[in-house]
Amino acid sequence: MLNDPVLNQEWFVVARSADVPDAKPVAARLLGQEIVLWRSPEGVRVWQDLCIHRGAKLSLGSVANNCLVCPYHGWTYDATGRCVRIPAHPNLPPPLKARAGVFHAREQYGFIWASVGRPLKPPPGLPEADDESFRKMVAGPYQFHAQGPRIIENFLDVAHLPVVHAGFLGDGAHAQMADYEVETTPEGIVARDIPIWQPDPDGAGCAAEVSYTYQVHRPLIASFRKLHNDQLMLMVLFVTPIDENRSTAWALFAMNYGHDIPEEQLLAYQDHITGQDKPIVESQRPELLPLDLQAELHLRSDKTAIAYRRWLRELGMSYGTA
Ligand code: FES
Ligand SMILES: [Fe+2]
Repeated sequence: MLNDPVLNQEWFVVARSADVPDAKPVAARLLGQEIVLWRSPEGVRVWQDLCIHRGAKLSLGSVANNCLVCPYHGWTYDATGRCVRIPAHPNLPPPLKARAGVFHAREQYGFIWASVGRPLKPPPGLPEADDESFRKMVAGPYQFHAQGPRIIENFLDVAHLPVVHAGFLGDGAHAQMADYEVETTPEGIVARDIPIWQPDPDGAGCAAEVSYTYQVHRPLIASFRKLHNDQLMLMVLFVTPIDENRSTAWALFAMNYGHDIPEEQLLAYQDHITGQDKPIVESQRPELLPLDLQAELHLRSDKTAIAYRRWLRELGMSYGTA
């Protein structure tokens, strides 16, 4: 089990809303723990995937009458996690200790979220996500054999765009990076107005000089807003540590244009882009992001990464860092 006090107070995406039906529990993994997701009429539930009786997986059970029923001996847990029925002893009040391990859970932006400790604050506010003039889509899960900080830093990295994503998010003939400003506040990091020439900024195939503004909202949540003319695209990346060495990334997109482009086309493009990043990120050594700025070499174009490493150190993050 991963036990980093900084991560314990964070919210993590554990599934797409669409992947958790009303009548069936779903298994997932978070911070080295097996979890079960299910829906009660009062909202989504995220629990330890373990029945306290004999340790069977509750995700193999069923949802009935606003309860989760264990697949082994039918112990029945209500939406608060309390066992309310033991079929072998229908007249015996279940012992008070017969409870499921309950985590904080919520549903937002088309995802199910969980926190294993006491969440410090809600997931970041994203005005475009509630704006009807923006089309929205969710992407992922993208599996990485890597730890979260390397994945977030790759997302923030502008200088790789013309190299790893040549022909899509950059062009070798326009690889030179302009200078830009980075600001760190208690709310996170902002890097503003970074211009980049892109042959195909979004999968629609129209080349443009775009301007990026990046934000790091939480240690493992970052976003960019990409602007050209009055066309704005928001992408938010949510990284979920599955265990010590594996992570899942999810993304939310919001666009105020391209309403007629088929979603499959836009998602296929994003899958392709992530497929280009994956082998690079998985190849990085050390796997742990060095927070000592004397390690690795930093240039002007790495400003956001430098700010990210400093911020993680200030937060006292130990997971995925050295
Ligand atoms: S293991 Fe769950 S009811 Fe026995
Ligand atoms: Fe990339």
